[in-house]
Amino acid sequence: MAPLTQAQQLTRWVTRKGGRIRVLAVTSGKGGVGKTNVTVNLADRLARMGYRILVLDGDMGLGNVDVMVGLSTTRTLADVFAGHCTLEEIIHEGPGGIQIIPGGSGIVSLTQLGEEGQLTLLSQIGALTQPPDYLILDTAAGIGDNVRFLAGCAQEILVVATPDPTSITDAYALMKVMSAHHGERRFRLLVNLAKNADEGLEVYRRLSLAADRFLGVAVDYAGFVPVDHAISRAVRSQTGISNAPASAAADAFTRLARTVDSWRPVTELKGGMQFFFNQVADAQTAALSAGG
Ligand SMILES: Nc1ncnc2c1ncn2[C@@H]1O[C@H](COP(=O)(O)OP(=O)(O)OP(=O)(O)O)[C@@H](O)[C@H]1O
Ligand SMILES: [Mg+2]
Repeated sequence: MAPLTQAQQLTRWVTRKGGRIRVLAVTSGKGGVGKTNVTVNLADRLARMGYRILVLDGDMGLGNVDVMVGLSTTRTLADVFAGHCTLEEIIHEGPGGIQIIPGGSGIVSLTQLGEEGQLTLLSQIGALTQPPDYLILDTAAGIGDNVRFLAGCAQEILVVATPDPTSITDAYALMKVMSAHHGERRFRLLVNLAKNADEGLEVYRRLSLAADRFLGVAVDYAGFVPVDHAISRAVRSQTGISNAPASAAADAFTRLARTVDSWRPVTELKGGMQFFFNQVADAQTAALSAGG
């Protein structure tokens, strides 16, 4: 019998978990477009909606999710890969109750996990005793191995782009690689640093038309986040935007969280990554037989 595809495994896992867990990758072609900001603020909003949120800093060599929320972390993914501790042991409690798995900082070996590292990561996620409702993967920019691996693990790939033409072409290039080499057929687009709603829609229109015509993939609009100095202030003070609740960006993140929450769990099929889901399924089976 042919091995199960990633989505079959994922579907199985989602079903076993009561259809609750969702894996979302926040990614981009070009760097510095606001992925980490989007990740922490989306996590904050979803947590406020009552969900249990786990953020994995997938920018593993140059992780900064912890810095952005003012968390001082002692152990990171680097310690997990070195075999010093488990993934569960490095989960830090962040603001608003979000849970954070910090990436390493300045660790070259983490920038390319390799198959062994990928399997370690997946098996350790699969072994978590308390799976979250949402697992949000903040990736590095570009089309490197880690980015493609993490995006391939996710049910939803949220591509962040800005109106900058270089960001738009890089977002297109990322979708091209993920569709050509990883079989991805659908992406969500968030336009950050838009002047207004019209500019956000225009970026979406250009990208989705090109993606549809030349790649044959669907891009759904996840909305826009305006340029807002409240964000730069929040980043500098390491507080997260939630401390500036009246800002335009804060409203945008609230809208984004509602949009993300309206997406139905994936049911279509994708390829690869069985190990992760086998681990989860095994843990679930063990828990069920222990708990009766
Ligand atoms: N909507 C916005 N308005 C104003 N400033 C913003 C906005 N979004 C992001 N920024 C600024 O852009 C900077 C880069 O954001 P961030 O670190 O989230 O990008 P990134 O895509 O994660 O970068 P990298 O590719 O290096 O991981 C932030 O420090 C923040 O000051
Ligand atoms: Mg980042």
